[in-house]
Amino acid sequence: MDTYKAVEVYEPGKLRVVERQIPEPGPGQVRIRVETCGICHTDAATILGVYPGLTLPRVPGHEVVGRIEALGSGVTRWKIGQRVGVGLIAGEDGVCVPCRRGDMVNCQNPVVSGVTTDGGYAEVMIAEARGIASIPDKLSSVDAGPLLCAGVTTYNALRNAGLRGGDLVAVQGIGGLGHLGVQFARHMGFHTVALGRGADKEKLAKELGAHVYVDTEVEDGGSMLQRMGGASAILATAPSGSAMGPLVSGLAVRGKLIIVGVPNDPMQLNAFPLVFGGRVVYGSLTGTPIESEDTLAFSVLENIRPMIETFPLEQAADAYARMMEGKARFRVVLVTSAGAAQKSAAK
Ligand SMILES: NC(=O)c1ccc[n+]([C@@H]2O[C@H](COP(=O)([O-])OP(=O)(O)OC[C@H]3O[C@@H](n4cnc5c(N)ncnc54)[C@H](OP(=O)(O)O)[C@@H]3O)[C@@H](O)[C@H]2O)c1
Ligand SMILES: [Zn+2]
Ligand SMILES: [Zn+2]
Repeated sequence: MDTYKAVEVYEPGKLRVVERQIPEPGPGQVRIRVETCGICHTDAATILGVYPGLTLPRVPGHEVVGRIEALGSGVTRWKIGQRVGVGLIAGEDGVCVPCRRGDMVNCQNPVVSGVTTDGGYAEVMIAEARGIASIPDKLSSVDAGPLLCAGVTTYNALRNAGLRGGDLVAVQGIGGLGHLGVQFARHMGFHTVALGRGADKEKLAKELGAHVYVDTEVEDGGSMLQRMGGASAILATAPSGSAMGPLVSGLAVRGKLIIVGVPNDPMQLNAFPLVFGGRVVYGSLTGTPIESEDTLAFSVLENIRPMIETFPLEQAADAYARMMEGKARFRVVLVTSAGAAQKSAAK
């Protein structure tokens, strides 16, 4: 077989299954036989054709797990048959100012899976060897996928926030990112509050480890957090600027509103709680491959797993629609024929 199946965006909003020639990895690259790929809300920026610098056709997908099947020249760190993962930022240029200062995740000219290069909605993907992470044996490929974007994004944001055990920490938006954020917050030892829309998520949020669930359709999240003493940090994952801005009112003095969701609408902020109390608002962008490995290791250590629904690769359009409609509980993961074969072999 010298062809493989891929799902490409051929015009804004439209996905189709295509057959492509299997490519050879270039210098410093590997070819991966993809087993699974999670569907992240950020994929919408590729599928709607709005990610800056994007050209179509493009294969989306940046929560990719598979096995290396070919090595490009100069690749020494990885072996054929090894199970690896690829996230969003999958290769820094190494020469821009942030890279030269060691801040690779903020590279100004990165390889971005599913944006500058074809991603994981496919049976085969070419990845930069410097942009991949090793997958521990204790994690299945379906479970590892979502940890490579939704996982590392929330894990890094929380662990880098200068928090202390017992701090009041809220996670807003209980979707792909949020349901992992709740688990990480709980397992990092925080007093964990989940802020979601609707009553139906309460039971699940508590099962994931939330001490308290606030239905923001009934109760104002900021006021509730203030009544609890004020949050040291709020991790805002919901793609809604209008829902994020008012959360500042729920922060304790010196509290942090950490923005990881990327809404289309602007965020309005009241200056008073920022000035009087030194509260801050800042963003956090996913993580590097070694930080993905940290996320996977912590997930194994603390038995944290994404809650997933699987779809065959060919049904990517339906799976994507399910995520966009907010129906996924909580992450949709595409499984290729290689992924399905692995799964049945493991049974
Ligand atoms: N910073 C990064 O590196 C990074 C990485 C990955 C993703 N992202 C971004 O993070 C955001 C979330 O991604 P995701 O994959 O987790 O999306 P997702 O699975 O679609 O989840 C989003 C969740 O937000 C909830 N929500 C929407 N509006 C809300 C509101 N007003 N109040 C409370 N909850 C609300 C939705 O709940 P309902 O069911 O109630 O609609 C849904 O559960 C996206 O903007 C994505 O682009 C950023
Ligand atoms: Zn993502
Ligand atoms: Zn750079």
